[in-house]
Amino acid sequence: MWRPFLKGGNSANPVRPHPPLDRYYRTEEERLRRVRDWFDHSAAHYDWITQALSLGSGHWYRARILRTAGLDRGARVLDVACGTGVLAEAATRQVGPEGFVVGLDPSAGMLSRAQARGVRQLVQATAEAIPFADASFDLVTMGYALRHVADLETVFSEYRRVLRPGGRVLVLEISRPSSRFAYRALELWLGRVVPALSRLGGVKPRELMAYYWETIDRCVPPESIVEALGRVGLERPERRVELGIFSAYLGEA
Ligand SMILES: C[S@@+](CC[C@H](N)C(=O)[O-])C[C@H]1O[C@@H](n2cnc3c(N)ncnc32)[C@H](O)[C@@H]1O
Repeated sequence: MWRPFLKGGNSANPVRPHPPLDRYYRTEEERLRRVRDWFDHSAAHYDWITQALSLGSGHWYRARILRTAGLDRGARVLDVACGTGVLAEAATRQVGPEGFVVGLDPSAGMLSRAQARGVRQLVQATAEAIPFADASFDLVTMGYALRHVADLETVFSEYRRVLRPGGRVLVLEISRPSSRFAYRALELWLGRVVPALSRLGGVKPRELMAYYWETIDRCVPPESIVEALGRVGLERPERRVELGIFSAYLGEA
């Protein structure tokens, strides 16, 4: 595990999702500022860019994975890093009027898009300090944002705290493929084509998508994420992977 490179983060010895990317930031404070600024200024373009990068399958995939994670009608769901609310919207449909879904995100720009999408309950906060009481939720979800947190264990401890006993965590991520051919194809797509396409939205979306690929490329291996889930006391931690790229991490409180 990497040692802290700076002051910041919430634990004395954080488990970072990737090593410092000093091409983009020099301090933890600068990383937080840049990530927030990128998302705030890319919010208007986020949906078309991610639909393009997932070749249109993104919304469908999120809805399907929620069903396979056992999301029931009436469930209370917290969608951390809700962004423009794609996952929260799918969860809202699945829990029905008897349940509820809260979207949480630090970016005001992304939250305003989620509100426009119809996500009714939104809170501006980070995964590291969730402003809800213990045992408030049946399911905590996080889609494609684990690479932006300061410390995996702080975040997973928060998820465990806000889950009722028996509640579940579902974290979606894109993983670096192990096959050389698939890696080259993904590098070309996410590392070159998507940032070039994102330029249509301006400089910030292009920078964000270049950073997006680097964080995937440099991310800790999936085993470290499963291990971190287990270390905070989440039970039956596991990774389900599709096409060697789409990872769903699960654990039970
Ligand atoms: C790639 S978007 C994912 C949006 C959404 N979950 C989806 O599936 O499309 C990443 C989101 O993570 C948020 N984010 C960044 N740092 C975060 C943190 N420390 N805690 C919670 N969310 C964070 C960003 O503001 C952004 O909205």
